[in-house]
Amino acid sequence: MTSKIKFSDLRDVVQEAYDNVKSIGKGENAHYIPYLANIDSSLFGVAITLPSGQTIEVGDTEYVFGIESISKVHTAILAMQQQGSDTIMKKIGANATGMPFNSIMAILLENDHPSTPLVNAGAISAVSLIKPIGDSDAKWNAILNNMNELSGSGLTLIEELYKSESDTNYNNKAMSWLLKNYGKIYDNPDIALDLYTRQCSLGVNCKQLSITGLTIANKGYNSVTKKQVFDPSIAPKITSMISTVGFYENTGDWLFESGVPAKSGVGGGIMGVVPGVMGIAAFSPQLDKAGNSVRAQEVIKQIVNKLGLNIFNGDKIEVVE
Ligand code: DON
Repeated sequence: MTSKIKFSDLRDVVQEAYDNVKSIGKGENAHYIPYLANIDSSLFGVAITLPSGQTIEVGDTEYVFGIESISKVHTAILAMQQQGSDTIMKKIGANATGMPFNSIMAILLENDHPSTPLVNAGAISAVSLIKPIGDSDAKWNAILNNMNELSGSGLTLIEELYKSESDTNYNNKAMSWLLKNYGKIYDNPDIALDLYTRQCSLGVNCKQLSITGLTIANKGYNSVTKKQVFDPSIAPKITSMISTVGFYENTGDWLFESGVPAKSGVGGGIMGVVPGVMGIAAFSPQLDKAGNSVRAQEVIKQIVNKLGLNIFNGDKIEVVE
């Protein structure tokens, strides 16, 4: 069923959810990355972008924060665009691990396989697949250009975050070389890890994330820049990956309660995709134990539940003036 909703009423739904959630003070900033531990935890914003290209935003939606694991989505899209979805399926996979995002055990249990480009192991493997192999600068240009096109405007590196992560990413280093040992890194492992760390350290805001969510929801067409960013056949593939593992070991609970595929990052961002309807994004730094923003989860849930949007009931909204 498609129900009509006025733009002004939709704005009220977003504002009301924001007001309800603003005072929730649960969770903690990510403390394993020093830069993230020091972000003001009261920051909070939410944005939705519609197929018309219009955005509704409330709160700290211009605040630039670390994109972190949400960048795994962008680079998985690029890897599928460059090499085809089937190749990514064969070389990386599309399975949930049911484990934390940085699990080494998951690699071993999956028969030495990285599982999906949306956990650390698979994301480093996906970066290693980005062409041109062996040329770090050209690979970075391809990754950044793709992220900018998906976001509708430029992302810039948060140097302090990049340094902070590069100085402390021992677990990711171990994973890169373990995957190399299993033949699942397709370039120099140090280049792959460095570019993965750099893409995680890009600064993004809520509005840009909601535009990326919309671009995926819109089968690769960015309504803001009016450009087809990726092949439409990739949209259901990446959306299925987001659905399967977007919240790591908490993904089932999230999908059950929200009905909306979404990807989180330890920077406090969450990007949701409602196919054919909207991109939705929220940001607030305090995380639950699985590394997902508490306020961002709650505000997205309240908005989509209120609108009756759920990929499992197929309902849609049409926004009218
Ligand atoms: O590799 C890491 O640990 C971070 N750069 C990204 C982790 C992350 O965002 C996990 N998601 N919630």
